[in-house]
Amino acid sequence: MPEPLTLPVSTAALCRDGDLAEGQALGLPAQQAFIVRHDGVLRAFRDSCPHQPGAPLAWRRDAYLSADGRHIVCHAHGARFDPATGVCTAGAALGLGLTPLALHIDTQGGVHLAEPPSSGD
Ligand code: FES
Repeated sequence: MPEPLTLPVSTAALCRDGDLAEGQALGLPAQQAFIVRHDGVLRAFRDSCPHQPGAPLAWRRDAYLSADGRHIVCHAHGARFDPATGVCTAGAALGLGLTPLALHIDTQGGVHLAEPPSSGD
């Protein structure tokens, strides 16, 4: 899985940690990104399908997941992505991956796009 992109830390919280239940997604149009909760973990990705870079995945607001909430789906051509890794597991983008973005959760539970933690080297 590629390393998360480094982005400027968002100052205002994009949502609260508890806002997204398992299998839910939140679109962030201003950031061209979206957040999903999968296996209890919040993950963020760039809203750009690797099949046609720049094409957003959702067909309507926050519609990034399959009906069962287990896969990220690009509604243009039906590619399915693993929410844990962003890798396409079926469809037009097979073998390609979404771009992961690093998240930071502040002490009040606010969720921010953030720089990845320093590796210490
Ligand atoms: S643009 Fe996403 S599958 Fe084709």
